[in-house]
Amino acid sequence: MSEQINEIRRRRTFAIISHPDAGKTTLTEKLLLFGGAIHVAGAVKSNKIRKTATSDWMEIEKQRGISVATSVMGFDYEGYKVNILDTPGHQDFAEDTYRTLTAVDSVIIVVDIAKGVEAQTRKLMEVCRMRQTPVIIFVNKMDREGKDPFDLLDELEQELQIQVRPLSWPIEMGVKFKGVYNIYEEKLDLYTPSKQVITESVGIEDIYSSELEKYIEGGLVEKLRSDLELIKGVYPAFEMNAYLQGQLAPVFFGSALNNFGVKELLNCFVRIAPSPRKVRAEEREVIPEQDPFSGFIFKIHANMDPNHRSCIAFLKICSGKFERNLNYKHVRLDKMMKFSQATAFMAQRKETVDEAYAGDIIGLPDTGNFKIGDTLTTGEILHFKGLPSFSPEMFKYIENADPMKAKQLNKGIDQLMDEGVAQLFIHQFNGRKIIGTVGQLQFEVIQYRLLHEYGAQCKWEPLHLYKACWIESDSKEHLDYFKKRKFQYMALDKEGRDVFLADSSYVLQMAQQDFPQIKFHFNSEF
Ligand code: G4P
Repeated sequence: MSEQINEIRRRRTFAIISHPDAGKTTLTEKLLLFGGAIHVAGAVKSNKIRKTATSDWMEIEKQRGISVATSVMGFDYEGYKVNILDTPGHQDFAEDTYRTLTAVDSVIIVVDIAKGVEAQTRKLMEVCRMRQTPVIIFVNKMDREGKDPFDLLDELEQELQIQVRPLSWPIEMGVKFKGVYNIYEEKLDLYTPSKQVITESVGIEDIYSSELEKYIEGGLVEKLRSDLELIKGVYPAFEMNAYLQGQLAPVFFGSALNNFGVKELLNCFVRIAPSPRKVRAEEREVIPEQDPFSGFIFKIHANMDPNHRSCIAFLKICSGKFERNLNYKHVRLDKMMKFSQATAFMAQRKETVDEAYAGDIIGLPDTGNFKIGDTLTTGEILHFKGLPSFSPEMFKYIENADPMKAKQLNKGIDQLMDEGVAQLFIHQFNGRKIIGTVGQLQFEVIQYRLLHEYGAQCKWEPLHLYKACWIESDSKEHLDYFKKRKFQYMALDKEGRDVFLADSSYVLQMAQQDFPQIKFHFNSEF
């Protein structure tokens, strides 16, 4: 096998997602410890951002700046190259997380045994489902009392709308927690509550062997056996293809804080998780292992320090190999560009990269050339699909507060939208600009950045909307009729697509009922 194919096939690029507090940071940290990428716990702090008071968003931005270093954490583990993409813990930046999910080949979802499926997990899973991203579920905090594991599996199936298959099974929980039977590796993992000790495992292939009784007491052995029989009877056998197509999620149980079940998760993950997957471009299907190089920008991180006002554009390599100082085509600008300062992310260091392969993320220093979704190639014209915008949840009219600076304001708004800070809609009825976000903080970020980076002042005016839906129809006539009838609710997004602004779920329902020929979409790519 050529070196390039080998390099690409050993890559595992993924994100860990969860509702805040389920244990994403802790799990990330433990994975990095096992990967030898860090040596002490407590090194991953980016997620602690959410614990800052929400009003202090400047502090949040500062920390987000620090977190650039931990945006991507790469390490080698048992011959695999693992790339973990960090996602912001603060839910006001959920849009960032959605976009990060477009750059991963699989995800691990962390669920708290006591809390089960929570709001943020449900939303993020929707994005995974849309993209058929393979999902592994880690049920965390088994050292605490929580839901009955079978009930939790039902909840996962229902709430996340995915088939599940336990690959490990807990023996008790909370203070009585004894460990798990690791179905995937056919061994018993015994639990010692400690942050320092790593799981003690005993290989037990036959769960009917009397060996088991040496480690756990009789009653629990019986219960474990009957649980495992039930699992075998009720859940389909683990099927690799179903997992790879995003239809079946293997489930592991453990306690990230106590280092329990994490190595087992990682062992299974590197073996079953996909290497970089094929990517659909408008022009053709792009196969990771095949030359030439191509990639797309999925995230732009602005430096909030006014003295260093540069950005880092994050590029996911979709195919081939990136090489330093070669000329690449910026497809949208139809311009050749050379990158001498691209950075790779190994653990928490950023280092200049000479070459990187499909699956890797590299950081490109940028001074306004890139916007989300831009493509780089060796010359071919490619447009990658699958970078949708999602309906925002909060909306405000943006108005100019300094008539002398109208030009600066418009330029600032345009550039911030290109960076993906929020979404812009133009109301067709009154021509006013509407900014849509997923959280209040983004409005504050925009106002601050417009002033400090563009010298423009904006003010916000309230606008009560429920959702912005992208609409389409097979019949132009019906579409035109709808747009005419709903003129006062119509807007255009930044790309000039038609958007229906529904001010309540009732209005939306009525529109769906009254206009069956119109399709309403909650994201821009359908
Ligand atoms: P997040 O990134 O998903 O938001 O969660 P994070 O890892 O920060 O974990 C949230 C809290 O849950 C932390 O406690 C963490 O120590 C705790 N935790 C994580 N895994 C486990 C586990 O397996 N068992 C138990 N019992 N707790 C766990 P905290 O008090 O909020 O923060 P800290 O002061 O411990 O850092």
